[in-house]
Amino acid sequence: MTLSVAVSGASGYAGGEILRLLADHPDVEIRTVTAHSSAGQRLVAHQPHLRSLAHLELQPTTPEVLAGHDIVVLALPHGQSAQYTDALADTPLVIDAGADHRLTSAEDWAAFYGGEHPEPWAYGVPELTVDGVKQREHLRGATRIAAPGCNASTVALSLAPGVAAGVIDPGDIVSVLAVGPSGAGKSAKTNLLASEILGTANPYAVGGIHRHIPEIRQALAAAGAPRDGIRLSFTPVLVPMARGILATSSAPIVEGATDAEIRAAWEDAYADETFVELLPPGVFPRTADVLGANIASMGLAIDRAANRVTVVAAVDNLVKGTAGAAVQSLNIALGLAETTALPVNGVAP
Ligand SMILES: NC(=O)c1ccc[n+]([C@@H]2O[C@H](COP(=O)([O-])OP(=O)(O)OC[C@H]3O[C@@H](n4cnc5c(N)ncnc54)[C@H](OP(=O)(O)O)[C@@H]3O)[C@@H](O)[C@H]2O)c1
Repeated sequence: MTLSVAVSGASGYAGGEILRLLADHPDVEIRTVTAHSSAGQRLVAHQPHLRSLAHLELQPTTPEVLAGHDIVVLALPHGQSAQYTDALADTPLVIDAGADHRLTSAEDWAAFYGGEHPEPWAYGVPELTVDGVKQREHLRGATRIAAPGCNASTVALSLAPGVAAGVIDPGDIVSVLAVGPSGAGKSAKTNLLASEILGTANPYAVGGIHRHIPEIRQALAAAGAPRDGIRLSFTPVLVPMARGILATSSAPIVEGATDAEIRAAWEDAYADETFVELLPPGVFPRTADVLGANIASMGLAIDRAANRVTVVAAVDNLVKGTAGAAVQSLNIALGLAETTALPVNGVAP
């Protein structure tokens, strides 16, 4: 049976990547695409690389246009999704790429986003350990799914195995990320002009204010860290690459943990995972190696002089960081093969 899909935010970066992946999905038909200021225009005017969807025109994003599909994917600026989700009560599966339904804590929502706290949905990172099982168990049969923040899932995947195994101390985590500007969306912003980002690295949201911090804390608490015992210093740095995240995260080694136990924590967590790879000792990923692929690639170092474990992870923010996570979660929720329509190979150079 072919399932009908509507994708909102289809003129944007996340919506475009969701469409690129779903265009090759054998079980779905992309029936409707919606946008805001671009409604009424052809999809390919905004996404010229999506040639197989050239017949589609962008509709206005309204509950009426989104209703009547088997699946609705929302890829809107945060704060915009919740207004549609009530009206989609009859839609069998709704996936939100925005932040609206990710946080379980109303306190965190108030502190980092503000306004009414929307209902939390199943978190779309299947490989994370949650209460001793993989998050994919919570996604089976799910009808409402919150795709992750790209930086958040990259850091959470980097550290959750060590937290779950009790070999790193979540009380002193430091994460510094090199991120590409597509993570900030397609709408024009002065700080994202080529003249502002080419040839320079720009730190932003420094000092504990980035909105992905509570999402990472939530994921690490689910992996087994005491909620009030997580201390995370998180610093993103905008660098001149269109896509990609390179996250370098470190945490202290718990006393008595051996090198073998530390490495085994990550090996055991990801040995059976198709979309998360742990590289051999001494090998670390580059963002170029994951572009276009639904892959989180990571290398791990045990720094005894600093008494810390350092994990370097590379993710394509638009694939494993958003659209790939959404489609992977969709597959699990619907009982399809988890790998359907998800590339493991990237594009290089
Ligand atoms: N970019 C990433 O790497 C990434 C990663 C993870 C999660 N996300 C999340 O995905 C969502 C979309 O991000 P993006 O990067 O794709 O942003 P974007 O490129 O700026 O696209 C935003 C989309 O939303 C539409 N839109 C804007 N205001 C709207 C409104 N009031 N009502 C309905 N539609 C509206 C826009 O339509 P018009 O162009 O027609 O105005 C456009 O299609 C965000 O919540 C973001 O946090 C993004």
